[in-house]
Amino acid sequence: MIRSCTLADFDAILQVINDGASAYKGVIPDDRWHEPYMPADELRHEMASGVIFSGEEVGGSLVGVMGSQPVKDVVLIRHAYVLCHRQRRGTGSRLLKHLISAAPRPVLIGTWAAARWAIRFYEKNGFTVVDGEEKDRVLDLYWDIPQRQVETSVVLADVRASREIVRTSGDNTEGNLSGLILP
Ligand SMILES: CC(C)(COP(=O)(O)OP(=O)(O)OC[C@H]1O[C@@H](n2cnc3c(N)ncnc32)[C@H](O)[C@@H]1OP(=O)(O)O)[C@@H](O)C(=O)NCCC(=O)NCCS
Repeated sequence: MIRSCTLADFDAILQVINDGASAYKGVIPDDRWHEPYMPADELRHEMASGVIFSGEEVGGSLVGVMGSQPVKDVVLIRHAYVLCHRQRRGTGSRLLKHLISAAPRPVLIGTWAAARWAIRFYEKNGFTVVDGEEKDRVLDLYWDIPQRQVETSVVLADVRASREIVRTSGDNTEGNLSGLILP
């Protein structure tokens, strides 16, 4: 069952994120890895900043969570995690479809460039990699992350976001998606 999460799910969300994030250990740059990967204070900050979680529940427990955050003219998918022992059984795809169908605007996702499985997961679900200078511009427009994370991340766009990214070198003075170039 896919359902919206509430504050009562805080501990369960934290547990799913930190269990799922163990996949990153030894894969993402060492200087970006820390344990727990998501401290409780950071999750609290993310939720207070507008990240709304949905989750898949099996037998009364959350096995996967995914957040969405409206920012300017897009929706960002944030913090997508499935418990290690429940991965590759469709939970991530079901959550992603749910969030995309609920999103009133184009959808963007950022993830670690080294997490090849996650990129493949999003591509299988219809997302396209935004690369090079456009990626840096999109990250700068919509994310508030350190420069080191910009360097080591990729952005993926859903069909609507890809359509909005024009094939010309717009000057991007609008501060939104339509000034950007499709790779
Ligand atoms: C990425 C993630 C959210 C996907 O959820 P999921 O329920 O495992 O994904 P689904 O079962 O819907 O889709 C599975 C597809 O995703 C990709 N995939 C997911 N995990 C993978 C892994 N460990 N190795 C290789 N491919 C993987 C594959 O393409 C897979 O298809 P396949 O099994 O036919 O090869 C989940 O695997 C996860 O939490 N991973 C660790 C954390 C992470 O990378 N989060 C992404 C943050 S942006």
